[in-house]
Amino acid sequence: MHGPYETLLTELDEGILTVTVNRPEALNALSPIVIDELRDIVSQIQRNTGAGTDWPVRGVILTGMGEKSFVAGADIKAMAEMTPAEADSYTRIAQELTSWIEELPVPVLAAVNGFALGGGCEIAMSCDFIYASANASFGQPEVQLGLVPGFGGSVRLQQFVGAAMASELIMTGRRIDAAEALRIGLVNRVFDDKDALVAGAHETMKLVLGVSPIAVAVSKQAIRETAHQANRTALDIERAAFVGMFSTADMREGTRAFMAKEKPTFTGK
Ligand code: CAA
Repeated sequence: MHGPYETLLTELDEGILTVTVNRPEALNALSPIVIDELRDIVSQIQRNTGAGTDWPVRGVILTGMGEKSFVAGADIKAMAEMTPAEADSYTRIAQELTSWIEELPVPVLAAVNGFALGGGCEIAMSCDFIYASANASFGQPEVQLGLVPGFGGSVRLQQFVGAAMASELIMTGRRIDAAEALRIGLVNRVFDDKDALVAGAHETMKLVLGVSPIAVAVSKQAIRETAHQANRTALDIERAAFVGMFSTADMREGTRAFMAKEKPTFTGK
């Protein structure tokens, strides 16, 4: 039912589908093709799983190739030259991906190995919950690039950790380690290393195989519809903010400086 993909690996094992973002040379950053392929696999799961199907996928684990990085964010190299119109299309399809993940009728667990920054943290937060390896780190560093979160971060981070903590993390862009992420409620559990993380994620997913798929789907929907009632509206607000940054000099400077491996000089314009 899925693949082959250029930037994803998929493995279905007794109802548990593991989707691995496989672009380690760029720390699994979300290039437009990664986003397209994630959209493809998620829409296939949506079509093939749920009431009226035989539920071939009972749970999804999303992870990144290697031990260093889950997903290091939206692709800064791709964004650097985007026009506001292109940025609008980019964030629109990526935000829609996060909503599709959130709306899947099966549990989706982010197994965060290493960096989950910017769009990587945002993809992890569109999953139902997050497990992490001890070397994981999280952050919304967009302001350091003259940008703002554009794949749901301003909406979902506060749902995980509360508005005040989300404000601190988004406005400073500072990175937090797995222990701090656990303490503030961004992740549910931390494991010693990637092998233990993958094993722990499978163990939890196996619990789901033992219960009613329709009960899981309905409880998941109830949680989403009560807690995330206004997300679509909120995502529209975020998208406008994200696209607006593509008309600023600071965004061009921040992305340029990243690629040149220099410190950016922001002018506030
Ligand atoms: N986009 C594109 N390429 C990226 C990338 C990204 N987000 N993150 C890392 N890479 C690339 C690097 O450019 C580098 O490529 P080259 O070898 O061709 O130079 C390669 O991956 C390895 O990265 P580093 O050499 O930088 O590895 P490091 O271990 O020294 O540092 C890091 C790791 C701290 C994660 C650093 O790579 C980094 O800061 N990355 C950017 C993280 C970031 O700012 N993410 C947010 C993006 S904005 C966003 O996501 C907006 C949104 O909400 C939609």
